[in-house]
Order: sequence, then C-alpha cells, then structure tokens
Amino acid sequence: MKLNSLEDLLLHELRDLYSAEMQIMKALPKLTQAAASPALAEVFAAHLDETERQLDRLDTIFEDLGEATHGASCPAMEGLLEEGQEIVAEEGDPAVKDAALIAAAQRVEHYEIAGYGAARTFAEQLGYSEIAELLQHSLDEEHAADDKLNNLALSEVNFEAANH
Ligand SMILES: [Fe+2]
Ligand SMILES: [Fe+2]
Repeated sequence: MKLNSLEDLLLHELRDLYSAEMQIMKALPKLTQAAASPALAEVFAAHLDETERQLDRLDTIFEDLGEATHGASCPAMEGLLEEGQEIVAEEGDPAVKDAALIAAAQRVEHYEIAGYGAARTFAEQLGYSEIAELLQHSLDEEHAADDKLNNLALSEVNFEAANH
C-alpha cells in the first residue's frame, strides 16, 4: 500500500470497505438464522439486500477510477464478525442472545459508518462528486440499519432479555 496522495488514501479506504462488505455478505445469512426475534431476522435479511447493492456501488466506483477491487483485506471486520459468530455458537437464552447479536451488529455498522464517512469526504475533497454521492447513499443505509437495530433493542429485544 502506498499513501502518497489523497487519491491513494481513497483507494485504500475503498478496498478496505470492499473487503468488509464481502465478509458481511457471507455473515448476514448466519445472523439471520440465529436471530430468535422475527423482527431482528427481518432487519438482518433486509441488510443483506442492501449489502449486495453497496458492493455493486463499490464495483461502479472502482470501474470509474479504473482500479481493481482487490489489494486489501479488512482484519478489523474479521475480528468483529468472529465475535458475532461466537455469540451465535454460544448456549443461552434466545432473548439475551438477540440482545448480544444486536450489540455485535451495531459494532459492524459503526465500523462501516466510519469507513464510508471517511471515503465520502476524501472523494468530495478530490472533486469526485458522483463517487461521493454513491458513498453517501451507502453511508445513509448504514446509519438507517444502525437506527433500526437501536430501535429494536430499545423497543423489544432488551426488554425481553431483561425479563430472563
Ligand atoms: Fe455495508
Ligand atoms: Fe452495514
């Protein structure tokens, strides 16, 4: 990886996000299956569809830049998803496990929000307004997914978990 210019840095962020999204795409079906709450399973399933579109957007961006998608892995996302997988594998009360899954999933969303926010800002600074717009779209979806998880935790799942 070279980091001599803001362009290099944008590319680095985009490749990190690409690796993260690919990993998330593989993990979401497992989280959907593990969720006891149908509402939580629905949030995970809907976010899988969004994740596929976010990967398409990244593909479009790499094409626009004339660059390859590969070249970076995202060990941070590997770690976050490994923690999620540990919860899935854990024995326990379904409502408590759902609360744990939400907390793990929100960590993933916050990582993505940081990544898309940074990449969007670099794209803006470089004058790539169409790329910035695509990244903003994905950023908005990550915020919305985080809000949905938060609302679910506050309205239903944590309440259930507290009664066990
Ligand atoms: Fe995403
Ligand atoms: Fe996400």
